[in-house]
Amino acid sequence: MAEAIVDLDAVARNTRLLSGLAAPRAATMAVVKANGFGHGLLPVARTVLASGASWLGVTSLAEARQLRDAGIDAPVLAWLYGTGDDFAWAARHGVDLSVSTPAHLDAMPPGVTVHLKVDTGLTRNGVAWSDWPDLVRRAAELERQGTLRVRGVWSHLASADDPGNPSVPRQLERFEEALAVAAKAGLTPTLRHLANSAGIVDVPAAHYDLVRAGLALYGVEPIDGVVAGLRRAMTLRASAVNVKRVPPGTGVSYLHQYVTDRDTTVVLVPAGYADGVPRLLSNRGAVAIGGVRCPIAGRVAMDQFVVDAGDLDVALGDEIVLFGPGDGAEPTVEEWAAWAQTNPHEILTGIGARVPRTYIGNDAAPSGVARTYIGNDAAPSGGVAEQSREEQPHG
Ligand SMILES: Cc1ncc(COP(=O)(O)O)c(C=O)c1O
Repeated sequence: MAEAIVDLDAVARNTRLLSGLAAPRAATMAVVKANGFGHGLLPVARTVLASGASWLGVTSLAEARQLRDAGIDAPVLAWLYGTGDDFAWAARHGVDLSVSTPAHLDAMPPGVTVHLKVDTGLTRNGVAWSDWPDLVRRAAELERQGTLRVRGVWSHLASADDPGNPSVPRQLERFEEALAVAAKAGLTPTLRHLANSAGIVDVPAAHYDLVRAGLALYGVEPIDGVVAGLRRAMTLRASAVNVKRVPPGTGVSYLHQYVTDRDTTVVLVPAGYADGVPRLLSNRGAVAIGGVRCPIAGRVAMDQFVVDAGDLDVALGDEIVLFGPGDGAEPTVEEWAAWAQTNPHEILTGIGARVPRTYIGNDAAPSGVARTYIGNDAAPSGGVAEQSREEQPHG
């Protein structure tokens, strides 16, 4: 079966690099929603907190609950829900809540700490510009009454990954206006935040008091052509489960959309679209076997696909690297994303729940799991490395 190897040393290094870009002015929130972008919520959360991030960002209260249930008591902000969620739980467990509509402000329970999110131009979530003056007035009133505390004012950039895009300065200007309106209403938020990964790398003016790092934590450069020096954390690998020599003219996989043009070796990979291998990789993607790139032959199926290995000497059980850090012949997640006409986020978060995550590196790995020592510099005993295994149920 396929297996995702997650290099926690890479996550740690990326966190240090990003928080170094933000410091000393801004603190760093690690965005660990969607199961840590597919890498595993808890191992990633523990690693980033030990490596320079002081906040965790999630969308749902369910994700916040997983963090608290695991004993992680670091500051957490949650930001995507309707008005009927269990906000009292968040207040009791010190989870900060984002307020993105007047109705959400009305739904906030006593004792909660909020970050008011203003829509500065993304036109996705956030308080509508026309509602902002009234909302901050009411929030200030609730704060004066002691009902809630406004810790943050924030927004999200639409196009920071496109350097020179005029929407970035426009959003900065709007954010400044929104802060001024909030200040006039009597609010004194200590955390103003706007920058995502691309903003951290390319828009220092957007750093304010806190930056929110998502994709870059996991080692994908957020801006095409700009090298910040990140290291990709996930390697998706599998072992060959069938190997055959076939003659020219052999149709491969459903509908025979690939037909061999010579004697060749076809190798079966036990991972399919149910595991997050996009069907769009059919006849288009590639993998690495024994340090050689081999094309995907024919249709990707639900649980498996076939690779044309040519005259490579492949045996049952040989390792197949689907994507990885890009040190050798293996494709990167960005190449997969290009083949699948999507972004790396979708590939990483789409790796299926049944793909076990295996953790290497970093002594921040969860305790109580099996560990073997294999050689890296973050190991507990100088120069030896730690590998931990934990299957993540949350795909
Ligand atoms: C509100 C918010 N902030 C920050 C991030 C992190 O963005 P990125 O992955 O570009 O760093 C996300 C991710 O989608 C987000 O929704």
